[in-house]
Amino acid sequence: MRTAAPIEHITVLGAGTMGSQIAAICALSGYRTTLVDIADAPLDQAKDLLWTRLERDVDKGRRCAKEVAAAQAKLQFATDRDAVVASTDFVIEAAVEDLAIKRQIFASLDAVAPAHAILATNSSNIVSSQIASATGRPDEVCNMHFFNPALVMKCVEIVPHELTSLQTMECTRILAESLGKEVVQLNREIPGFVANRLLNALRKEALNLIDQDIASPADIDKAARDALGHPMGPFELMDLVGLDVVYLIRLAEYEQTRDEASLPHPQIQQLYEEGRFGRKSGRGWYDYASA
Ligand code: 3HC
Repeated sequence: MRTAAPIEHITVLGAGTMGSQIAAICALSGYRTTLVDIADAPLDQAKDLLWTRLERDVDKGRRCAKEVAAAQAKLQFATDRDAVVASTDFVIEAAVEDLAIKRQIFASLDAVAPAHAILATNSSNIVSSQIASATGRPDEVCNMHFFNPALVMKCVEIVPHELTSLQTMECTRILAESLGKEVVQLNREIPGFVANRLLNALRKEALNLIDQDIASPADIDKAARDALGHPMGPFELMDLVGLDVVYLIRLAEYEQTRDEASLPHPQIQQLYEEGRFGRKSGRGWYDYASA
């Protein structure tokens, strides 16, 4: 059985919130890591945010300066995806939640990645069978789903599709554990996997309560925190994850299920159309500009 030991170089695609923190976790765990995006601007922004975050961790005594300096040396930023992927052992794709784009990306990855390289997607809603068929190596494709903020959240869901090999699952599990994560392994794929399906049930009811004007988002969040002990309420969490991500996840699910219940809630659609993406844009359910 293959182990994670042969993994020396990890490529993470997409310098957004998830991709950048996943890359940082890989580098902090000692892997040579390259974070790839299509332009320099998102990479520069990701670098600034990551370095600030890690320096803060050092200041607060959560990590030692040596560990952070080692991670900074291990983490590269690049736009020439094909050249990077040609020497990679493991790819974690964290690009936009759009099936057509992901299929295009995976077809290109397949053309240049070494034969042994595993191609994983961080998608929580687009199941890997839909992407694997764009490659000539479906046995080496799976979902490897991190949670936001990936630097902090302990869980990774690993999800096979029908053709994912046991070897790919084992290697992905060993990698996730070597990143310090707890693995939740699904037996078979379903959009949303386990954690997001649980979360969606809560979110759906929270939206139902505001539709009926039963309570405000702030009071519903307070109930989740102070009555149920959740670290944050459903509206705060949407603002953390990003309303754009929440919206696109719903659309991606709808594309797979064609069930209207999967469509984004009208209020989420409105926030998305107004560019109110949550913390990242300064406004979502809550206003962060004045905070
Ligand atoms: N990135 C990295 N680290 C962060 C962070 C972020 N965005 N936000 C907080 N942290 C870390 C920092 O170390 C921070 O300390 P610092 O501010 O002194 O640097 C520390 O967490 C504590 O943060 P806060 O004092 O701001 O607040 P909390 O104690 O409430 O912790 C939290 C923040 C860890 C985000 C916590 O509120 C939490 O666990 N919330 C729930 C998150 C969750 O449910 N995530 C799953 C979302 S679903 C998902 O990701 C699926 C996907 O498919 C959409």
